[in-house]
Amino acid sequence: MKKKIGIVIDILMYGILLVQMLYVFLGNTAHEILGIAFFVCLVCHIIIKRSWFKTLLKKGKKPLPRRIFNWSTSLLMLSIIALMLSSLDVSRLLFPRIRIFGDAALHRYLATAVLALSVLHGGMRGYIHTKKKKRAAVLTAIGTAAAVAVGLYLVPYLNRHFKTVRIHYADAVEGEQVAWNGSKPLVVYFTRIGNTDFAPDVDAVSGASLLLADGELMGNTELLSDMIENAIDCDVRAITLTGKHYPSSYGDTVSAAGKELNSKARPEIEPIDISGYDSVILVYPIWWGTVPMPVATFLESNDFTGKNLYLIATQGSSGFVDSTKDIRSMAKGANVTELISIYCDDIPKARDEICRKLKKIAP
Ligand SMILES: Cc1cc2nc3c(=O)[nH]c(=O)nc-3n(C[C@H](O)[C@H](O)[C@H](O)COP(=O)(O)O)c2cc1C
Repeated sequence: MKKKIGIVIDILMYGILLVQMLYVFLGNTAHEILGIAFFVCLVCHIIIKRSWFKTLLKKGKKPLPRRIFNWSTSLLMLSIIALMLSSLDVSRLLFPRIRIFGDAALHRYLATAVLALSVLHGGMRGYIHTKKKKRAAVLTAIGTAAAVAVGLYLVPYLNRHFKTVRIHYADAVEGEQVAWNGSKPLVVYFTRIGNTDFAPDVDAVSGASLLLADGELMGNTELLSDMIENAIDCDVRAITLTGKHYPSSYGDTVSAAGKELNSKARPEIEPIDISGYDSVILVYPIWWGTVPMPVATFLESNDFTGKNLYLIATQGSSGFVDSTKDIRSMAKGANVTELISIYCDDIPKARDEICRKLKKIAP
């Protein structure tokens, strides 16, 4: 009976973990409630398997598979404790006031570690008990690698592709003012929205990763630019295509952008004159590990000699990647400084961080 309950709890835990990784379809409320369910299952699992702790303390050299099992299980326990604590950092429903590490990205990485170590843990247990050792070893290795790929690549991809984030515009944009005593800076941003053939009806483009501010479609970089405009006295310009727009489907835009990058295309844009400014704050999304090609057109069609060029990137997991290096070679003569690269999910809460960065560079 105890064994059967143990198996049911194990299956439940793997199931919950996998479903939790599909946060983009699940939504926050279900994610938080399932997080608690996972914790309850974990406590039951530890009670049922408590004899394992005794084997840890037993002296004597253990065979390699047993040592891998013990190590992976100990690491798994630690990762789960850290994952539970980090979930407090991202909780909006059950624990909105408790913050432990103060880093939302950590939760994603810990979830990946827990998924991979769980697969390794289950696989090694199977390996120890089965006679078909070779098959168990191969399956464990493939399963662990697949779990890492799911956490690091598939989940961020699904987030970028399918997520619709709904926010209250004023809550995200309005707040503290930052003193900027030198000449007014120019904020230049590029976003997919406005440069894409979206139908005016948002439902027609469901399936794409979208930001709805008070029900209005907005680009992530546009929202960031609005935050800057609210915090300092500046001018703002959007990079706008004059020719062909990007397709409304996210996947097709990714392909079109990839082709532009490979052919070093410079799509035509409305001219933006930066000659009257000493400082330009460029807000752009990472596309294929660098700047979108319309941003390249903007950078190469202006004279940046002696100007400060501050970079704010948004991305679906990758940081600044090659964009800084590429911007340095495109904006000849500019003093280029990275300000911040923001994960797309964190954009609605990014205003305080942006203000901190602006204070550091404000004349
Ligand atoms: C064509 C395309 C390529 C992308 N390539 C990457 C990438 O290489 N790395 C990454 O982390 N995010 C990538 N993303 C995700 C965007 O950087 C991210 O969703 C950004 O917040 C979008 O900003 P926007 O809504 O203002 O256009 C890509 C998005 C698109 C549309």
